[in-house]
Amino acid sequence: MDFKQKAADLIVAQTNLPADQVFGLIERPKNAKMGDYAFPCFVLAKQFKKNPAAIAGEIAESISDEAFAKIVAVGPYVNFTIDHNLLIAQTLQAVLKQGQHYGDQELGKGNVPIDMSSPNIAKPMSMGHLRSTVIGNSIAKIFEKVGYTPVKINYLGDYGTQFGKLITAYKKWGNEADVKRDPIHYLFQYYVKFHQEAEDHPELEDEGRAWFKKLEDGDQEAVELWQWFREVSLKEFKRIYQELGVEFDSYNGEAFYNDKMDAVVEELKDKNLLVESRGAQVVELGQDENPAMILKSDGTSIYLTRDLAAAEWRMKEYNFVKMLYVVGNEQTEHFKQLKAVLKKMGYDWSDDIYHVPFGLITQNGKKLSTRKGNVVFLDQVLKDAVKLARAQIDAKNPSLANKDEVAHDVGVGAVIFHDLKNDRLDNFDFDLEEVVRFEGDTGPYVQYTNARAQSVLRKAKALGKEASLADINLDDEWAFQTAKDLADFPRIIARAEEKFEPSVVAKYSLALAKKFNKYYANVKILTDDEQLPARLALVEAVSTVLTEALRLLGVNAPKEM
Ligand code: ARG
Repeated sequence: MDFKQKAADLIVAQTNLPADQVFGLIERPKNAKMGDYAFPCFVLAKQFKKNPAAIAGEIAESISDEAFAKIVAVGPYVNFTIDHNLLIAQTLQAVLKQGQHYGDQELGKGNVPIDMSSPNIAKPMSMGHLRSTVIGNSIAKIFEKVGYTPVKINYLGDYGTQFGKLITAYKKWGNEADVKRDPIHYLFQYYVKFHQEAEDHPELEDEGRAWFKKLEDGDQEAVELWQWFREVSLKEFKRIYQELGVEFDSYNGEAFYNDKMDAVVEELKDKNLLVESRGAQVVELGQDENPAMILKSDGTSIYLTRDLAAAEWRMKEYNFVKMLYVVGNEQTEHFKQLKAVLKKMGYDWSDDIYHVPFGLITQNGKKLSTRKGNVVFLDQVLKDAVKLARAQIDAKNPSLANKDEVAHDVGVGAVIFHDLKNDRLDNFDFDLEEVVRFEGDTGPYVQYTNARAQSVLRKAKALGKEASLADINLDDEWAFQTAKDLADFPRIIARAEEKFEPSVVAKYSLALAKKFNKYYANVKILTDDEQLPARLALVEAVSTVLTEALRLLGVNAPKEM
């Protein structure tokens, strides 16, 4: 049972306020002894034509419910005191019965394409792409948990004029064996060299354009090179995805839409939306907005044109109920234009499109340079994280059986967790030592807390004891605080979904871990008395919810570490 919701419902029944507003107004009394929830009656002055204290008195008098041990007026507030043991018993029952499905809900259904990761071929995967990958992955799991069918789409940057330049550079300075050995590194090097050389030799740009033209015209050599570059780059990216434990439902990237853009341009023409502006074709979006460019003056299409084609294709393919683009906030204007043009085309489903932006990863407060943020670097970050995790495990638990696997879960999990614990739009600093610590607000701390709970359950089992839901009577404050957090989990997931915000789940897991560690420090769990099975039920419930919260973030929860 959701006790806060219950308190809100009881108030709603007495007033003419909307349910949302009542729920939003409910506070936590400053002094926990005064109750668990407090509803301030100031807003009811009009309806009741009394002073708030009198209103609180009247309401408190007229409601009662078995969920609450006490409902009383305290000044202008109606204070609710939960029947602690009832909350504990009901919550543990719900968690243990539903297991990993605790928190599942039906908030919606239907396909939700999530455009995520989307790195550019022949360029290193940046920290921005890493963020998009882990945020998108977590949002997909959260959406799935509340009833939707997520479709994870990697809209690879696998086409464009840069491939003409790359082919030119490869033919001049490239070497097949190098590309085979370390594709992204070398391809990127050729690309950088092209730009350096082009400063002194502008005719290189013409060659680049000529090769791109050949590619567009289906010239065999150009197409084969392009395909090869795409293939070897993708293979590298997939290695990183595998490390991170992320899978995609579709790799339909930019090239997939090559033959689908003309139709969009035709459609825009038919709908009389294209106008000429300084030689280019644009869609006007109103006085205060920049016009959206669709065709450049040389008639070539651009990023936006392709995204229009992709959005239409996805609507046809998936008949989506929502579509998300997890892309850095520097592309906010682009997605605003995308939605606005679709709207002008008469597609009301453009209202169901959401740009889910995020901030930057910094180092010592400074923006990371993409040049250094190459794939080797990202690979290296994960490797270093695993190494640091391994060192800590060696120190703490030298006899652990599957150390490599656990070190991987902890190291990679630490990097993912660190990315997800901050509000998505915040910029944050990346300091590996900090990220992989076992104490503090880190992923390993949550994992370690779960492993601790599992270790208690293992010890109990060795003593022939196990969790039971019969006769739960846990009267300590720590058990209550922990159970209250457990009871909040479904609502936390709903909030994370509504705001596209995995950090809500990450912060929750930290708070729950802290509550449980207080319980662990203050209560002798394994004492052999009649409440031992109830205490074990609490421990098991905590482990279930921590494991599920981490899963929603894309982080594994080892049972031992
Ligand atoms: N490849 C692009 C980049 O790295 C991101 C693509 C985002 N998705 C989209 N549908 N535009 O900037």
